[in-house]
Amino acid sequence: MLRRTIDKNLSSLNTFGMKVRAARYIEFSEPGDLYAIDWDSLKQPLLIMGEGSNLLFTGDFDGTVIRSRMKGIKVDEELCQGDDVLVRAASGELMDEFCRRTAAKQWWGAENLSGIPGTVGAAPVQNVGAYGVEAADIVESVECFDIRTRSLVTFSSADCAFGYRDSFFKHNKGRYIVLYVLFRLHSDFRPQLSYAHLQEEVERIAELTSAPSDPYNPILCAKTGPQMPVTPTLVRDTVKVMREGKLPNPAKVGSAGSFFKNPVVSREVLSQVEAVVKNERGEGAEVPFYALDDGRVKIPAAFLIEACALKGASFGGAGVWERQPLVLVNRNGKATPEDVLALEKHIVDTVGSKFGIELSAEVEYI
Ligand code: EPU
Repeated sequence: MLRRTIDKNLSSLNTFGMKVRAARYIEFSEPGDLYAIDWDSLKQPLLIMGEGSNLLFTGDFDGTVIRSRMKGIKVDEELCQGDDVLVRAASGELMDEFCRRTAAKQWWGAENLSGIPGTVGAAPVQNVGAYGVEAADIVESVECFDIRTRSLVTFSSADCAFGYRDSFFKHNKGRYIVLYVLFRLHSDFRPQLSYAHLQEEVERIAELTSAPSDPYNPILCAKTGPQMPVTPTLVRDTVKVMREGKLPNPAKVGSAGSFFKNPVVSREVLSQVEAVVKNERGEGAEVPFYALDDGRVKIPAAFLIEACALKGASFGGAGVWERQPLVLVNRNGKATPEDVLALEKHIVDTVGSKFGIELSAEVEYI
């Protein structure tokens, strides 16, 4: 079913809570609806959006918003082989609901992505990621409606050209509407605990809750004994607790998750950052980083922002979240786009002049 609205209030459709409107708004609930739209006559530009959890509206949107309300999460029995479980999820489902349901079935793969706001349809576009897993690791293919050719097209994982918070779709905005995402999950024991802090927390909680009848866990037994009840749901619950400790509760404080990307820099730039930090804090001070395969390193933007003493900084209603400075929040629900942009500029300028690194936004401006 198609639902069309003129002059739609988007305040509750962007997690940052910006009070903005869209000139035209269309919701669809099945692929067939998209053939009933007269695409040539739509008010341009087009914005295909999910939950609006990674968007920053800098003003009213004078075009047409298109939003999927397609529902359904189903196993594709024909494609399942061995321990692989292929699950097709409709684009309008919430990503966290997908994580919850698949973890409850004891399938491994999506549990580390628990608690990420947004829809299934947005997950491959943004290549969402957390705790050592990103959408790219579990997306098998993406089925879309191509607005230009008015036809259905399926992209393999390779076609999606996934990168850090990046994909083919991000470079072809306004052309493809995601209908379904096919995920490859696993029924055999495959926790992904490469993120050290997650592993520690999972071990701690597993230890607290272990019982003699629980399944043997080869990964964790070395540390905590032979009877460890590690399940996808346990990992999911651990991730949610970790997120809640650091990130604002979306129901209470508006934000768009991480506002900046973690900058990828050369070893030389890392040395410069280390020099600045050691100069201030002493020789023993260290700069956290993740080494990438290409020889470069990723430095947590949160570290750089905190090192500039910007934790808790504010501009109007916009603020830097105290417990995770990578996140900018709408403190009182009254932040304007100008407040957010001014705060962003202040952070980018301050980090730039101190460390010579230019932070780039992870959120998408509309
Ligand atoms: N840090 C600080 N101060 C803080 C918080 C963090 O210095 O107050 C430093 C620490 O060195 C810490 C490091 O930042 O070890 C990493 O922090 P965290 O584990 O929170 O991860 P992140 O790199 O800051 C990324 C993603 C998050 C994702 C987490 C967990 C990006 C832009 N962000 O943040 O994703 O949840 O890892 O995997 O890559 C999102 O995309 O919206 C998002 C929340």
